[in-house]
Amino acid sequence: MVVTAVRLLPRNPTQSSLTMLFSAIAALALGIGATAQVTYQNSSGTRLRVDNGTYGPEIEEVHYYYDQWPIGIAAASDGRIFTTYTRGDYRYTLGVVVNQTAEEAYPSLELNLPVDQLNTSWNGIDFGSGNSSAFISVQAVYVTPESNATGRPETLWAIDTGRPTIHNGQGEPSMPYAQPGGPKLVAISLANNTIYQTFTFPSNVHYPSSYLNDLRFDLRPNVTGTSGKGIAYLVDSSDDGRLGFIMVDLGTGESWRRLDQDRSVLRGQNDVPSYVGHPFYFEQVGRPSRWLLEGLDGIQITPDGERIYYSPLTSKRLYSVPTANLRERDSNPAAELNAHSNVSDHGQRGGDANGFEGDNNGLVYQLMPESNAVYFYDSTPSGNGKTNPFVRDPRILWPDGASVGADGYIYLNINQLYYQPDWNFGVDSREHPGAILRCKLPNGGRKITSLFP
Ligand SMILES: *[C@@H]1O[C@H](CO)[C@@H](O)[C@H](O)[C@H]1NC(C)=O
Ligand SMILES: *[C@@H]1O[C@H](CO)[C@@H](O)[C@H](O)[C@H]1NC(C)=O
Ligand SMILES: *[C@@H]1O[C@H](CO)[C@@H](O)[C@H](O)[C@H]1NC(C)=O
Ligand SMILES: *[C@@H]1O[C@H](CO)[C@@H](O)[C@H](O)[C@H]1NC(C)=O
Ligand SMILES: *[C@@H]1O[C@H](CO)[C@@H](O)[C@H](O)[C@H]1NC(C)=O
Ligand SMILES: *[C@@H]1O[C@H](CO)[C@@H](O)[C@H](O)[C@H]1NC(C)=O
Ligand SMILES: *[C@@H]1O[C@H](CO)[C@@H](O)[C@H](O)[C@H]1NC(C)=O
Ligand SMILES: *[C@@H]1O[C@H](CO)[C@@H](O)[C@H](O)[C@H]1NC(C)=O
Repeated sequence: MVVTAVRLLPRNPTQSSLTMLFSAIAALALGIGATAQVTYQNSSGTRLRVDNGTYGPEIEEVHYYYDQWPIGIAAASDGRIFTTYTRGDYRYTLGVVVNQTAEEAYPSLELNLPVDQLNTSWNGIDFGSGNSSAFISVQAVYVTPESNATGRPETLWAIDTGRPTIHNGQGEPSMPYAQPGGPKLVAISLANNTIYQTFTFPSNVHYPSSYLNDLRFDLRPNVTGTSGKGIAYLVDSSDDGRLGFIMVDLGTGESWRRLDQDRSVLRGQNDVPSYVGHPFYFEQVGRPSRWLLEGLDGIQITPDGERIYYSPLTSKRLYSVPTANLRERDSNPAAELNAHSNVSDHGQRGGDANGFEGDNNGLVYQLMPESNAVYFYDSTPSGNGKTNPFVRDPRILWPDGASVGADGYIYLNINQLYYQPDWNFGVDSREHPGAILRCKLPNGGRKITSLFP
C-alpha cells in the first residue's frame, strides 16, 4: 500500500513540484465556492447536522464549587443542600451550602479529624483512623424525612469510609485499610444539627478493604426481617477487596452482608469507558496504566420498598434484587443462594453508570458520566423494560451524586472526576468551579416518602 501511494507522486519530488501540487489543491478547494466551510473544528456555520450535546428538561445552575471538589449530595426539605468531600488533605469532609459560591463544615469543623490524624500504621501497613466519634472521610449522604413511626426527626445520614486517600513523598496515592470504628453510619438530626446515633461494624461485615459508597433506607415498622425500627442498605464498592451489600438493622445495630462477591456486584473486567470522547485508563503516579476497579456503586430502592436496583461502576448492566433477599440473615443457610437466584439482570443500558436516585413514580435515575447525561429505568409494571434518556448537557461533566429534593427537582453534583490527578498520573486538569445543577422531574415526580411513615 505504501509503495503504491508513493508512486502517485513524482519520482523525485522537488520543492517546486510539491508547491504546484498543493496550490492546485487549494485552488480546487476555493473553486468549490467562497462560502465553503473550511474552518478547523468550528461547526457553527455548517449546513451539516451536529450533535449539540443536549436534550431533556431545562437545567439550572444552583451552586458553584470554588474550593474542595465534592462527591456526595443530599437536599433537605428546608432547601439546605449537604455535600461530601473525600479526604485527603481537605479540611472537612461533610459540608452545607451557605451561598452560591461557598460551603462550610457541617455540623461543625471540630468533628473532622485533623489531617495528620487520618491514618496510622502498624508493622508497615497503613490503616485509617479507628475514631468512631470523628469524621474521617464521608463518601455519601441521604436525607430521610421526619418519621413518626420510628420517632426520628428529619435526618441526614452519612457514611464515613474510614479510608482517606493518602500520598507518600513521591506523590503516589494509596488508601489505608479500615480499622473497626472508622467506618460508620452516622445519623444527624436536621432539627437540632446534632449527631444522635452512630453505627459501626464488626470486622466480618466491614472488611479492612471494604469501602462504603452509598446508602438507602426503609423506616417502615412492618418490614420483614427487621426489629421494626427501620433498615439501611449500604454498598461496599471496594476497589481492592470484596464487593457486596451491607445491611444495618437501625433498631438493634446488627449488620450483615448479602450478595458478597456475587457476579452482579463485581467490577467489570478491563473496562475502558470513554469520557468527553477520550478512552479512559486509570493512571496513578508510581504505577503503570490500568483500568478503573470500582464495583457495586449506584443503588436505588423502589417506592414500595420491595426491590433495589443497582450497578457496578465499571459495568454497562443494570441489576435488581428483592429487598427481602437482602434482609435474610446468615442464620438461614440458603440466604446467599436465594439472593443470587433472585437477582434480575435487566441487560445493558448503553454505558457505565455512577450514582443512582429515584422518585415516587418508580423511576430509577442513573448518572451516566460517559454521555454527560442522566438516564432512567421505569421500575413500575408500565415500564418499557428499557433504560431511557432523561437529560443530557455539556455541563454534566461527571455527574457524581444526585438527590431528589422535596421540591420535585433532581440536584446533580458535577465534579469533573475523570480529570482528577489521582486518575491521571498526578496531573490535575479539573477547572473551577464545580457545580450543582438541577432540573424538574418528569410527571410531577417527587422525593420518595412512602418508606418513612
Ligand atoms: C466559528 O465560525 C463562525 C462563523 O461560521 C465565527 O463567527 C466564529 O467566530 C467562529 N468561532 C471560532 C471559535 O473560531
Ligand atoms: C439539540 O438537538 C436536539 C436534537 O436535534 C434538539 O431537539 C434540541 O432542541 C437542540 N437543543 C438546542 C439547545 O439547540
Ligand atoms: C459566601 O460565604 C462565604 C463563606 O461564609 C463568604 O466568605 C462569602 O463572602 C460569601 N459570599 C457572598 C457572595 O455572600
Ligand atoms: C499517613 O500516611 C502518610 C503517607 O503515606 C505518611 O507519610 C504518614 O506517616 C502516615 N501517618 C501515620 C501517623 O502513620
Ligand atoms: C476522636 O476525635 C475527636 C475529634 O478530634 C477527639 O475529640 C476524640 O478525643 C477522639 N477520640 C479518640 C478515642 O481518640
Ligand atoms: C437532637 O435530636 C436528637 C434526635 O431527636 C435527640 O436524640 C438529641 O437528644 C437532640 N440533641 C440535642 C442536643 O438537642
Ligand atoms: C406497611 O406499612 C406501610 C406504611 O406504614 C403500609 O403502607 C403498608 O401497607 C404496610 N405493609 C404491610 C404488608 O402491611
Ligand atoms: C424471590 O423474591 C420473591 C419476592 O420478590 C420471593 O417471594 C421469593 O421467595 C424469592 N425467592 C427466593 C428463592 O428467595
